[in-house]
Amino acid sequence: MKNIRTIIASALLTAGVTVALASTARAADIKDQPLITPKLMTDALHAVMDSDRAVYTKNVVNRLANQEKVITATEHWQDDKSLPLPAQMFRMGAEMVAAKNKGFTYSLLSKWPINPQNAPKTEVEVAGLDFVAANEGTEPFYSEETLGGKKYFTAIYADVGVVTACVKCHNEHADTPKTDFKIGDVMGGVVIRVPLESL
Ligand code: HEC
Repeated sequence: MKNIRTIIASALLTAGVTVALASTARAADIKDQPLITPKLMTDALHAVMDSDRAVYTKNVVNRLANQEKVITATEHWQDDKSLPLPAQMFRMGAEMVAAKNKGFTYSLLSKWPINPQNAPKTEVEVAGLDFVAANEGTEPFYSEETLGGKKYFTAIYADVGVVTACVKCHNEHADTPKTDFKIGDVMGGVVIRVPLESL
């Protein structure tokens, strides 16, 4: 009798341990699943870029140029000994990242660019800029494209003219192809591209 009880108890214990081990293994499996999808990655990268640009615009350019009136931000910042424009800061960062060959690239583009280098080049870039402009920046655009034989995930986020300065400077710039931007207009978009296969 005692023996049978012991056998049953040890069988139950073994079963319990097995179930516990199995569930630990399942938890580990789930934990080890990569959670970063290409979309989550571009969304996260965009959050960083967007925040850095907003911080530079607000706490450096706007504070020093408009509030403290210490220094201005101008396009020819080297000659003028002024601060680079936020879009120029963004492009310099993007060029430095591209030179590091990490696979992912980003840029600030527009269908109405002041700098022709910032015009869309691929079909997906054109479609994405049209999409974010049509939905007034309420939703990003996601797609895939093959460039140079490699597959990429491409995300495009609206760049909105949130303050008068954006609209005024662009509308009045000698090289702008568009002179009727209004506050709240989508003026362009941030394009972020991550590889979907090893490079
Ligand atoms: C003082 C002038 C000025 C202000 C203010 C300004 N921009 Fe620009 N922006 C420029 C110039 C010049 C470029 C081209 C920079 C380059 O060489 O890449 C540019 C580039 C851009 C581009 C890339 C396409 C293009 O036109 O070359 C976008 C999109 C853009 N700006 C949006 C904005 C938004 C949105 C704001 C406000 C948050 C803003 N800009 C504020 C002058 C300005």
